[in-house]
Formats: sequence, structure tokens, C-alpha cells
Amino acid sequence: MSGGLLWTLARTLVLALVLMAGASAARAQGAGQFDAPSADLARTPPMGWNSWNRFGCDIDEQVVRQVADAMVSSGLRDAGYEYVNIDDCWQGARDAQGFIQPHPQRFPGGMKALADYVHARGLKFGLYSDAGWQTCGGRPGSRGHEFQDAQTYARWGVDYLKYDWCSTGGLKAEGAYQTMSAALRQTGRPILFSLCEWGQSQPWKWAAGIGQAWRTTGDIFGCFDCIEDRGDWKAFGVLQIMDMQQGLRTYAGPGHWNDPDMLEVGNGMAEHQDRAHFSIWAMLAAPLIAGNDVRQMSPQTRSILLRRAVIAIDQDALGVQGWRHAVDDGLEFWFRPLQGGDWAFMALNRHVAPRHVRFDWRAQAVRDDLSHRDADLARRRYALRDLWRDEDVGDTSRALDAEVGGQDVLLLRLTPAR
Ligand code: GLA
Repeated sequence: MSGGLLWTLARTLVLALVLMAGASAARAQGAGQFDAPSADLARTPPMGWNSWNRFGCDIDEQVVRQVADAMVSSGLRDAGYEYVNIDDCWQGARDAQGFIQPHPQRFPGGMKALADYVHARGLKFGLYSDAGWQTCGGRPGSRGHEFQDAQTYARWGVDYLKYDWCSTGGLKAEGAYQTMSAALRQTGRPILFSLCEWGQSQPWKWAAGIGQAWRTTGDIFGCFDCIEDRGDWKAFGVLQIMDMQQGLRTYAGPGHWNDPDMLEVGNGMAEHQDRAHFSIWAMLAAPLIAGNDVRQMSPQTRSILLRRAVIAIDQDALGVQGWRHAVDDGLEFWFRPLQGGDWAFMALNRHVAPRHVRFDWRAQAVRDDLSHRDADLARRRYALRDLWRDEDVGDTSRALDAEVGGQDVLLLRLTPAR
């Protein structure tokens, strides 16, 4: 037998043993290979932090540790942000057996130690990979290594995987995502699976049984109303991403969410734009994945990301995404039904200049075929609470008469009046 053949046989044997060990661990924990993904992983939209929007490829273990500390000290963790996710560029090379290694200079302590550090602070740990040969940042992708990578992640203590779609020429998205989904489930470790295929093959139609969230669009960037050409792709502002969510709400619900991409709050937009961005994401029942440097947040950024009353809209247990109810020359009126008979209402001013809003509640037919809820505003009276000003502002017996700032929102919670 040639040396080369012997070497290949030895490698295959090592790999087979590792995979068998993983699979038997999975069986021991009662996980079947093709069980449906657990809805319990994301009964409400996932919340956390991700490195990409602020750090790009310039990420290392020291930053991640400091971010985890800051998530605790700033109160983000206690407000519900639980995942600390490293996006692209954490990878080094694969070793001789094909096992992925973290970048040796940026993550010298290894991923297991880093995950332990994050877990010790009551947080969860997430990583990123790609269905193709290479990630979008040119690092090794998981193609051909799906089961091996899933076992590795489980061994490290990974709780969340974002799975991208670069260099996948010839692959079919549904099959590729199904493969990684099965590989994750086979580990027996609950790992939230977040699909990032940019909405290209309408994942909302097939991904509910595969993962807990799917990106619906290309990448966001920190601009309220812009499209930016980046060569062979485009990055989108907040309003552009929002407009692309039209028609998707019926596909979302507990355990499976539309993902309009991560937050740009604190990454350079004006405070009112950040406030509108965060409100829109809450109305959309979107994952709230902060993308700023949480180690040094301005008081304004902090007060947006930590606004409990708005987080509560996003995280509402009914799990029904809101919708654009009416449009009036750049003014939009959105509704979202909430558990227990409440409603969320958003008036969004797309214009740069402030606008006066008059909205006669009793003249509105607000019915939702999806949740079978009828606000019955003509007959029922609701108390109104302004969630950003944090004050009661009357009830629905009188028409709303208010000023909404440019590129800003009025966000109200309606509660049936006694
Ligand atoms: C794609 C994704 C982004 C980010 C980068 C990393 O563009 O959509 O969210 O993960 O890749 O390279």
C-alpha cells in the first residue's frame, strides 16, 4: 500500500471515530438525526450582539471578552440580549484532518475558552460560517465539512450559528441549509440556526423547518434612506430594508422569524434615525442583534437599545409581525397585535422635515387575518402610552393630533381601557 493511501485511510478513520463519538453523544441526549428544529430555541426573536456591523474582519478574542463584560455591565444582558456572536473572519485554516481552527493570532486561546468566558457571564456564544467553499471574507467555508464543523462547534460550546451564502455557485439553497441543519441537530446540542442567504431564493417559503431565522434581504448599512453600490452587490439603508419586508409577515411566528438584518443603532446615524430603526425592527418582530461597540455606547445609544417597553413589543409572546396599515404621502401607520388584547402602533415619518399627524382612530378598520384579531377601534376605547416619551397620552376616543419629527416615529402601545 502506498504511503499516500495509508495516510488517507488513517485520516478517514480518525474522522469517522470523531463523528461516531459525536453521534453517540447525541443519541445519549435523546436527539434524533432528523428531528424538527426546536421552536423553543427562539419562541421570540433572537436577541444579542454580532461583531460584523462595527468590527468587520478586525475582530479578536480580547474584543469579544470585553464585549461580553460590557453586555453585563451595561444592562444589555438583563434586558434580553443573550447571544455574543462572532461573525466572519474568526477562522484560520483547516488542520490535516480537516478540522477548522480559529485564527491563531486573533484567537490564540481557542474557541472553547472563549465560549466558557461568555457562558460564565450568563450569555450564549455564537459563530459564523458559510455554505460554500469560502466565506464572504474569503475564509474556509463549511462545504464538504458540514457534519465535522457542527461537531466542532458543539464541542466548543457554540449556541448559535449564522450561515452565509458566498461562493456557493451551483448549490441549491434549500438543500445546503438542510444539510447544516441536520448536522447541527445531530450534535444533540441546541444550536440556534440563522440562515443568511439574503432572501435570494425566498427562504421564508421553505426555511421554517430548517432554522429559526432567515435573512430576507442583502446587507444593511448605517444609513436611514440610501442604497450604496459595492461593486457586484448593494448595501441598503433602514427604509430600503423595511420596504423589502412587504408581504412576508405571514411566514414568521414563534420559532421561525424573518430577519431584516442586524441593528445599526449606535453606528453613526442620528439619534432620531436610530430610534426609528429600532422601532421598525420591533414592529417587524425582527431579531434584535446589536451591531455597535457596546464597550463605549453614548447615553443616547444606550437608551435606545435598552428601552424595555420597545423591546417588549419586539419580544411579544403572540409572535405576530406587524404591518403597514395606511400610507399618506410619506407618513406611514403601522399596527401590530400583542398578547392579551393590546396593540402596538407606529406613525413613521419618512421625510426629513417634521410632519403634523392627524389620525382618527375610530375611522380605522384594523383587522388581522393572520392572528384573527380585530382592534374594533370604532367601538372599543384604548388607553395610549408613548413608548419613547414614557408617558400616557390619552385614549382613542379622540383623534390623534401630534407632530412626528423628520425620519422619526411616534410609537404607542394601545391597551383596552377599563
Ligand atoms: C455577508 C453577510 C453579512 C456578513 C458578511 C461577512 O455579506 O450578509 O451579514 O456576515 O457576509 O463577510
